[in-house]
Amino acid sequence: MTVAFLQHELGDGGALALRDLTTAAPMHRLTAANLDRLRHWEDWAIPDLQDGATRAYTRIQLAAFAEGRALPLAILQGGALVGSLGARIDLQRESAELGYWIDEGFEGRGLVTRGVRAVVRHLAEERGIRRFEIRTAVHNERSRAVAERTGFALEGVLTGAFRVGAERYDAALYGLVV
Ligand SMILES: CC(C)(COP(=O)(O)OP(=O)(O)OC[C@H]1O[C@@H](n2cnc3c(N)ncnc32)[C@H](O)[C@@H]1OP(=O)(O)O)[C@@H](O)C(=O)NCCC(=O)NCCS
Repeated sequence: MTVAFLQHELGDGGALALRDLTTAAPMHRLTAANLDRLRHWEDWAIPDLQDGATRAYTRIQLAAFAEGRALPLAILQGGALVGSLGARIDLQRESAELGYWIDEGFEGRGLVTRGVRAVVRHLAEERGIRRFEIRTAVHNERSRAVAERTGFALEGVLTGAFRVGAERYDAALYGLVV
């Protein structure tokens, strides 16, 4: 049976749930608490990020979810929102690009690794996605470790493809074909 990916248990109290508008306010608070850290790795993590922007982004993602073009998920631990894990889906190409971040206090527990595995399995089995990509700054070791731990292979380095504020960095492109 094909069902919407509304909630998925990851074990040890971890779970994935749809990032809908009820999560917009707590997601914004979590983002604001992690902004100093996230701004090194996420181009959207600008210093004066407003809660209206998080809400608008959530609406756009939900519209894309309804069309099968996105899978916007919150990472939960013990029912509390602790991170974000999303997929941008290209049904025509049967491909998806994954992105993720987690609250500093919840790093190192394997939540993102387990989440990536669950999303890849879901999109492959329920949506027919065959190719997955993760792009990350070459010096983002924790993000690269997630890709490598979940079976992605380094396919190349994209020169200057990663922009954060005024800086440009090389991006590591990871791919997985299932
Ligand atoms: C990148 C980021 C999401 C990685 O988070 P993370 O917590 O390191 O990743 P995981 O949740 O998969 O945890 C991995 C760790 O948990 C450990 N672990 C514990 N239980 C585990 C389990 N059941 N399964 C897998 N790993 C487990 C692993 O050994 C690993 O340990 P280590 O930190 O000693 O290497 C996080 O560092 C982050 O949010 N960074 C800022 C934003 C960012 O860079 N986003 C990516 C942009 S491309």
